[in-house]
Amino acid sequence: MMDQAERLRRMVQEAEQEKEPEARVITVTSGKGGVGKTNLSLNLAIQLSKLGKRVVVFDADFGLANIEIMLGARPKYNLADLMFRGKELKDIICESEMGISFISGGSGIQEMATMSREQVVYLTGKLVELDTYADIIIVDTGAGISDSVLEFVMSSSEVLLVATPEPTSITDAYSLLKALNKKEEFSREETVIKMVSNRVKNEAEGKSLYDKMKIVSDKFLGIPLEYGGCVPMDDIVPKSVIRQKPFSVLYPDAAPSRAVRQIAERVLEIESTDTRERWGISKMFSNLIRNKLKK
Ligand SMILES: Nc1ncnc2c1ncn2[C@@H]1O[C@H](COP(=O)(O)OP(=O)(O)OP(=O)(O)O)[C@@H](O)[C@H]1O
Ligand SMILES: [Mg+2]
Repeated sequence: MMDQAERLRRMVQEAEQEKEPEARVITVTSGKGGVGKTNLSLNLAIQLSKLGKRVVVFDADFGLANIEIMLGARPKYNLADLMFRGKELKDIICESEMGISFISGGSGIQEMATMSREQVVYLTGKLVELDTYADIIIVDTGAGISDSVLEFVMSSSEVLLVATPEPTSITDAYSLLKALNKKEEFSREETVIKMVSNRVKNEAEGKSLYDKMKIVSDKFLGIPLEYGGCVPMDDIVPKSVIRQKPFSVLYPDAAPSRAVRQIAERVLEIESTDTRERWGISKMFSNLIRNKLKK
C-alpha cells in the first residue's frame, strides 16, 4: 500500500506536470523592514503590466503596511478563506483598476506554518491555478529573517532583495543571506538573488551599495549576488502611499517610476537571454511542501 508521504509526493508531481507554461514567480524580500518592498512589488507589477504582462501580486506579509492599504482596496476574501473556508482562487483574486490583481495572504500566511501536510497539498493544488491568471506573480514577503520568509525565498528561483543605504538595512540584508546560507534547502544555483538598492541619491550610490554587498557575499557566503537596479529617494513615494495609489500610476514620468520601469525591462530581458531553469508557482509551492515533508 502506498503510504501517505508517497501519495503526497505523487500529487505534487502531478500538479507540477499539469500546466504549461508556468507563471514566473519573483519574490521580493529584505532583511530590515520598511525598506520599500511593497512599493517595489506594486510598482514593478504596474510597469510589467504596462509592458504587456498579466501580473498578480501575492501579499505574503501579514504586517500592517501592506498592499491593501497601499491600493486603498479591501478584498472580500483572502488566502485563509481559500485554505479553510471553501473559497476558490477566483474568489480571492482582487482586481484593481490599475491593471494588476492581487491576493491578500491575510492570516493565511501565518497559518501556513502550522498547516498539516494535507492542508498544504490542498492549498498548492488551488494555487497552481494561478498560472491561468498570470504571466508573472510577484510575492511581497514580510520583513525580517523569519522561517516563513526564508521558506518563500528558498522556494523561489528569482528573488529581489531590497536594501537601502542605511547601515542597518545593509547589515540586515547580509544577515538574511547568511541565514539562507545556513539552510540546507537553499540552493545558490537554483535561487538567483538580485539586489535592488532603494532610496538612493543617484545611480552611482545604488551601484556602489550593491558592489559592497557583493564583495562580502562572495567572500563570506559564496552566494553570487546579482544587480537588480536601483530606485531613487523621492518625496513622491510617501505622497503616493498617503494617497493610496502606486507612484507609477500617480507620477508615471517621475524618477522612481522610470527607475522601476528599467527594473521591469531588465526582468523581461532575461526571458530571452537567460537559459537557466525558472520555477513557476506550482514548483514554488511544491518546494514549500517538500521542505515541509522533510521535517
Ligand atoms: N524610493 C523611496 N523614496 C522615498 N521614500 C520611500 C522610497 N521607498 C520607500 N519609501 C518609504 O518607505 C516606507 C516603507 O515603504 P514600504 O512600505 O514599501 O516598505 P516595506 O519594505 O514593504 O515595509 P514592511 O517591511 O513594513 O512591509 C514608506 O512610507 C515609503 O513612503
Ligand atoms: Mg511591505
